[in-house]
Amino acid sequence: MTTYENLTCPATASAVQRFTDPTTWGTFGTQWHSGEQKNLQCYAVHQETHDVKTFIFRCADFSALSFEPGQFITISPVIGGQTLFRCYTLSSSPTRPFAFSITVKRVPGGAVSNWLHDNLKPGGKLKASGPAGSFTPVGHPATKLLYLSAGSGVTPLMSMTRAACDMAGNLDIVFVHSARTPADIIFHAELTRMQAAMPGLRVISVCEGLGDTAQWQQPIGRLDLPLLSQQVPDYKEREIFTCGPQGYMEAVKTLLREAAFDFAHYHQESFDITALNEEPLIEQAATLDQQDVFTVTLSRSGKTFSMLANQTVLSAAKKAGAIVPSSCSQGVCGTCKTALLQGTVEMNHNGGIRQREIDKGLRLLCCSKPTSDLVLDL
Ligand SMILES: Cc1cc2nc3c(=O)[nH]c(=O)nc-3n(C[C@H](O)[C@H](O)[C@H](O)COP(=O)(O)OP(=O)(O)OC[C@H]3O[C@@H](n4cnc5c(N)ncnc54)[C@H](O)[C@@H]3O)c2cc1C
Ligand code: FES
Repeated sequence: MTTYENLTCPATASAVQRFTDPTTWGTFGTQWHSGEQKNLQCYAVHQETHDVKTFIFRCADFSALSFEPGQFITISPVIGGQTLFRCYTLSSSPTRPFAFSITVKRVPGGAVSNWLHDNLKPGGKLKASGPAGSFTPVGHPATKLLYLSAGSGVTPLMSMTRAACDMAGNLDIVFVHSARTPADIIFHAELTRMQAAMPGLRVISVCEGLGDTAQWQQPIGRLDLPLLSQQVPDYKEREIFTCGPQGYMEAVKTLLREAAFDFAHYHQESFDITALNEEPLIEQAATLDQQDVFTVTLSRSGKTFSMLANQTVLSAAKKAGAIVPSSCSQGVCGTCKTALLQGTVEMNHNGGIRQREIDKGLRLLCCSKPTSDLVLDL
């Protein structure tokens, strides 16, 4: 039986201690348990829009999850007998460390998002690792912030906004969210409520069209420089956090470049994994310059394949039929960590591996390109 005794654990005490100064994000501290796997139990599911659901979890052992707003977890459901790995941002606030949520948009043809929507019900169980990720306001102690999101990219910014609201601090936040129609705005009602409750929060929803909505007082169209300048005249004084589809983020960066915005105050996160599927195929290794082709041997299966110097090892291994766990394809989640037994790679990771793991010979295959022939522990 669940009692309040289950809630008294050291993690809560340290979480509470870290929320003592509500005027700065830095009070969240930097504690997170990268690589640690947890058993999660789903205890509620909310339909947010026609194709978005929020899944609320608790740890099976009632432990408190310590994370920074904007970070994600990597879930690993078993679907059709195969374990799949996918990253999902924690859309809830770290100020509520026991009940935490992910908010998932159905991706047409997508294996995990559709499985979650169709199968995960209250009582359902999942394994997850993390939290991880560096898309967080912790470490950027600005008091004037601008959150820009589109579609499911709202999730990290929602976590940041919920945290700010719970902390009752003096943050000045403008949250501009873009959606196709008013019916597609995720968290619309809650953001409206939070805006009424938090003096420093202003929420602007920008819709491409009205859909079935008859009454709409907010901007219609796409976010561009005139719209941003009109709605948020002081945007250049703000720390900007952006998350959304690739095209949206490119558009935001273009308009900020046009405005000569100082990109030292710009942060973004991409949910996009398509880059992995778009890499060039190596069809005819024999026709390529031999200096640009390397041989990769998988020590466990004995499989050998050739790959180009400008491919990632993950992409080439998958194309050669190897089963390599992976998720983000951006060097952030750590799922593709593999021991490099022989050879050298150039690895450009984004925080998904620690120096001591690199020293032990581990590499993230999704962001590693070969600089010699390789032998991998796969
Ligand atoms: C850091 C991070 C945080 C994220 N946070 C969120 C979040 O908060 N909410 C959210 O909804 N999503 C989030 N995502 C995206 C999420 O991880 C998944 O990528 C997304 O849900 C799609 O997964 P899927 O298994 O449904 O689709 P997949 O099965 O991975 O397919 C994705 C797309 O690729 C296509 N595809 C699949 N296989 C192939 C193939 N062989 N060739 C060509 N195309 C193919 C599919 O048709 C689909 O369009 C995040 C991603 C990252 C990296
Ligand atoms: S797949 Fe996420 S770090 Fe490689």
